[in-house]
Amino acid sequence: MAKEVNIRKVAVVGCGFVGSTSAYTLMQSSLFSEMVLIDADKARAEGEALDIKHGLPFAKPMNIYAGDYSDIADAAIIVITAGAAQKPGETRLDLVKKNSAIMKSIIGEIKKQDCQGILLVVSNPVDVLTNVALKASGFPENRVIGSGTVLDSARLKYRLGEHLSVDSRSVHAFIVGEHGDSEIAVWSSANVSGIAVDDFCEMRGHINHDKNMRAIAEQVKNSAYEIIEKKKATYYGIGMAVKRICEAIVRDEKSILPVSSMIHGIYGIDDVVLSMPAIVGKDGVETLVPISMSSDEVEKLKDSAKTLKEVLEQTK
Ligand code: LAC
Repeated sequence: MAKEVNIRKVAVVGCGFVGSTSAYTLMQSSLFSEMVLIDADKARAEGEALDIKHGLPFAKPMNIYAGDYSDIADAAIIVITAGAAQKPGETRLDLVKKNSAIMKSIIGEIKKQDCQGILLVVSNPVDVLTNVALKASGFPENRVIGSGTVLDSARLKYRLGEHLSVDSRSVHAFIVGEHGDSEIAVWSSANVSGIAVDDFCEMRGHINHDKNMRAIAEQVKNSAYEIIEKKKATYYGIGMAVKRICEAIVRDEKSILPVSSMIHGIYGIDDVVLSMPAIVGKDGVETLVPISMSSDEVEKLKDSAKTLKEVLEQTK
């Protein structure tokens, strides 16, 4: 008999830089009253739990502990960050063989617990590993999602906000496709409070619009490489992206976020997990939102889907 889901309980599998930062960010969010940290290195999970709990007097009461898979059965969300991280010069897709094996092992343990929660895959390559988690778990598609290009889209909003001297929260723009080198910036529907980006750029007196947009998209795509070169890993941006997705689920916000989910036919793309704006609420992905894209952007999205399908073959 499946345990009833506790909407205020989250599990984080993997307590490396991304997992521990996500756990810290989730503690600060006050979204949850219980958090279990799981890692193959139990001492690491215990240490991270201790370190984060000591901050509770500055936050809100929360039961945080290092546990094992038997503790996840009633978790509303299971955040999976375990796996190798990119090294300088390494692409996310280069991690697929090692991390897909780790993902299958984790899903095998999760399946034993008959949990009804939502799997939130963060490990890279996130779109491919979300597909692996979906197939290996047998969970309904709405309950297996990935952090996708939520962080990439935030990076795009940040860069555009800087470029246009406007609050990045007023910038509405998506990166779609692979969370990685084949990602696509959807300029055709990018806007600043409803004003098309190119019109807002003109209003700000910018010229060389196309050149500037290409440069911004390139900066966004290469953000992780740039950060890894400087500090060996990325974790704050992704930790906040994880918090944003958990927030939409726990509060049933029905927010539109570009998470990784299974695509069935939109834009002529089928049977592949990639990052596309979707309505996210208490049941995970409710439905995809087919944003308007130019024919050139759709063609690039199809190329991204082809790449992801090819890489998925390496996990079999
Ligand atoms: C990054 C990692 C999360 O883009 O892939 O920072």
